[in-house]
Order: sequence, then C-alpha cells, then structure tokens
Amino acid sequence: MSAAARIDVAVPDPRLLGRAVKRIAFEQAEIQRRVHELGEEITVAYPDGDLLVLGLLKGSFVFLADLVREIRRPLHVDFLVATSYGDATESSGTVRLVYDPETQLEGKHILLVEDIVDSGRTLEKLMGLLMARHPKSIEICALLHKHIATELHHPTKFIGFDAPHEFLVGYGLDHAENFRHLPYVASLQ
Ligand code: IMP
Ligand code: MG
Repeated sequence: MSAAARIDVAVPDPRLLGRAVKRIAFEQAEIQRRVHELGEEITVAYPDGDLLVLGLLKGSFVFLADLVREIRRPLHVDFLVATSYGDATESSGTVRLVYDPETQLEGKHILLVEDIVDSGRTLEKLMGLLMARHPKSIEICALLHKHIATELHHPTKFIGFDAPHEFLVGYGLDHAENFRHLPYVASLQ
C-alpha cells in the first residue's frame, strides 16, 4: 500500500476542521478494492435489460461516481433528493422527494444507491414511492450497513461493508455537511 493511502491518525488531517480521527473504519485502498468487487457483482447480476443507477443525494455521490465506473454494462445514472419529516422516534414519518428523476422508471432495473443504511426508514419510504412507478426490478446498493434497519423490509442486495455502530464520516458521509470529501471513512473524536 502506498504511503498516501494509509492515514496516520497521529498526523492532523487539514480536512478535519481541527477535529481528530478516533478510528479509521475503512481505508481508501480497502474501499477501492470493495467497490471494484461490488461493480463486478452488479455487472453479473444484470445480464440484460435497461439499468438505471439512482443515487440518493447527497451522501451517495462519491460512492456512486466510483461504483458506476466499475460496472461493465450499459447503464444510465440519475439522482434523487429526499427530505424526511416527523420526529425520529415516530415510525410513520413521511419522505418527500425534493428532486425527482426525469427518467422513466417503468420497465427498468433500478439500482438505488445509498451511502449508509441505519434505521432503514428513508429507504423504506423511497422503495414504496419508486415501486409505484412499476420498475422491472428494484434493488438497493449501500456502501455501509449498520444492520439495525428495523424499518427496512427490503433486503439490501449489495453491501460494501458492515458498519460499526458509530457515527461515521467521509467518502460522501457528512456531519453537518462537513467531511464528505475525505477519501476514507472514519469516526471522529
Ligand atoms: P436511516 O433512514 O436511519 O437509514 O438513515 C440513513 C441516512 O442517515 C443516511 O443516508 C445518512 O445520510 C444518515 N446517516 C446514518 N448513519 C450515519 C453515519 O454514521 N454517518 C453519517 N450519516 C449517517
Ligand atoms: Mg446525511
């Protein structure tokens, strides 16, 4: 592994707003290897038909950009922006689409790409909305999965890594909009 790929937690990272890394959960090189494998799994899983890779913004943007370059079959890319309402302890919260893809979903294989599955609540609501548009199939690909997902009834078909039950940042994941541009995934002090 190159020196640049391994992060030395003792050396302050200028991207961290003065915060320190508690633990690197997934190194850049480890993520690259796994994303390559996921791309191969997805390529094999979709031998034919129209594939639309639908990224859930903003968290999926880094992962999706790397992932689609590892999928060796024709595909289209679009994005969704959703906002959640209601308090976090209420199970019947609604999800509203702020940006809705222009693309037709009917008859297509939809691969919904998410940064991390936590409670699964966001995805559960989105799956309902998207299934009403009669895609040929709909599956979820998440970089990270906390395996809590009490609200998600659809299995996550493609998972990058099982995530520790810590708050993680980097590779698209944010804390108050910061740290999305870290090339690794870490928990902070
Ligand atoms: P869920 O609806 O509870 O599954 O929440 C999923 C969303 O919460 C993700 O798309 C992230 O935006 C955010 N989220 C959950 N866990 C983390 C984390 O550890 N770090 C950063 N964002 C997270
Ligand atoms: Mg977020």
